[in-house]
Amino acid sequence: MELEDALNQRKSVRSYTGEPATPEQLEAVLTAAYEAPIGMGKYDSIHLTVVTRQSLLDAIDAAAARLFGNPELHPLYGAPTLVVVSSSNEGNVASANVAAIIQNMSLAAVDQGLGSCYIYGAIRALAQDPALLSELGLPEGFTPLGSIVLGQTEEGYAPREIPAGHRFAQNVVA
Ligand SMILES: Cc1cc2nc3c(=O)[nH]c(=O)nc-3n(C[C@H](O)[C@H](O)[C@H](O)COP(=O)(O)O)c2cc1C
Repeated sequence: MELEDALNQRKSVRSYTGEPATPEQLEAVLTAAYEAPIGMGKYDSIHLTVVTRQSLLDAIDAAAARLFGNPELHPLYGAPTLVVVSSSNEGNVASANVAAIIQNMSLAAVDQGLGSCYIYGAIRALAQDPALLSELGLPEGFTPLGSIVLGQTEEGYAPREIPAGHRFAQNVVA
């Protein structure tokens, strides 16, 4: 897929069939993560965790629903895979690194015809729950800062009209 088509067609997918990405699709998405820009090239400050264990996905989903105050919610949308992006640093650069990685993965997901959605809220719930956090098996000193769900979806990708409201306020300084 052409880059401009992937950029235009990328969207947050919130319905999943339950079927995971194929190994080739997952590899393509993870490769896109490795291609992300990282402040000062500190690649060792990043750790990715690919969660497919259903019991852990359910526990994170439930913890996030509790955090949002509505046990009926499913903040992971039933997706079969959650890629958690953790950092050994904190602050703006660490968060920017994580966002760049997640955006790269979301564009690769479009290219692969896979559904994806940036997930931040559930990560707050995860980071606040030491028992859940320990199940991630993170190296010492790493904290989850963001994540993306992935999976097969019946939603297709198609050209989309970008709403006028998405045009950021701007000015020109010439
Ligand atoms: C930093 C960040 C955090 C987000 N967190 C969540 C989230 O926790 N749950 C969710 O459903 N969508 C989340 N989103 C997706 C946004 O809601 C979505 O990108 C936005 O509404 C625009 O829709 P689009 O992605 O379909 O273009 C997040 C997006 C960003 C950039």
